[in-house]
Amino acid sequence: MAIDRIRRTRKKEKGEIITIDGPAGAGKSTVGKMLAQRLKYFYLDTGAMYRAVALRALMEGIPPEDELALERLCNKLRISFQGDVPKQRVICQGEDITERIREPRVGWMASKVSMRRPVRQAMVRLQRQMGEKGGIVAEGRDTGTVVFPRAKYKFFLNAARSERVRRRHQELRAKGLFLRIAEVEKEMKKRDKQDSLRDLAPLRPAADARFIDSTSLTPEEVVEKIWQIVKKGSKV
Ligand code: DC
Repeated sequence: MAIDRIRRTRKKEKGEIITIDGPAGAGKSTVGKMLAQRLKYFYLDTGAMYRAVALRALMEGIPPEDELALERLCNKLRISFQGDVPKQRVICQGEDITERIREPRVGWMASKVSMRRPVRQAMVRLQRQMGEKGGIVAEGRDTGTVVFPRAKYKFFLNAARSERVRRRHQELRAKGLFLRIAEVEKEMKKRDKQDSLRDLAPLRPAADARFIDSTSLTPEEVVEKIWQIVKKGSKV
């Protein structure tokens, strides 16, 4: 996959690399987007890229165990981010998939395909190309450990599972998906386990990441914490 296949807009050509990793529902996306807006940085949602692969795999009937087919799929996929947050869109094969990739079945498939080496290799390569010039807030599971190990600012965002479940439940409701809270909890437990126990790039904090527990913090408070740290270390 070549860099010319990725279109991204960037307001600033220079800047730091900030990584935010953590489990589902910890608030990474909300915080990452707010921070990127404030810094005028590019927001890189690495989970959206795995979700794009997952959606295409589902559409093409590729099982998550079929590494060869997934590799072929990744080689032909054209994933791009258009515009800046909060209006950023995810485009794949010319189609706007921003909403579709948020369906629970796509999240589950993303967790499955992201365990596969060819998929990780292709996505990490793209993510590094997108971030090489800096001025980026990257968010995911391995952005501080694998994708950008030399990032200047690394954060690991976590929250109590009950709170993460509550947030995800609300998020889904807002999208018109009415799942029972017990179902959301079951799915989250399964996904936490799958993302943390896999061999390749498992979810874990980088040794030099700053840990933030967002259980009783608002997204604004988390952003403020990060902002203060970044402001101290860089001219922003
Ligand atoms: O953050 P998310 O829910 O959109 O991510 C969907 C899945 O993608 C998640 O279950 C694990 C995978 N993922 C990953 O393996 N590495 C990343 N950097 C981001 C997401």
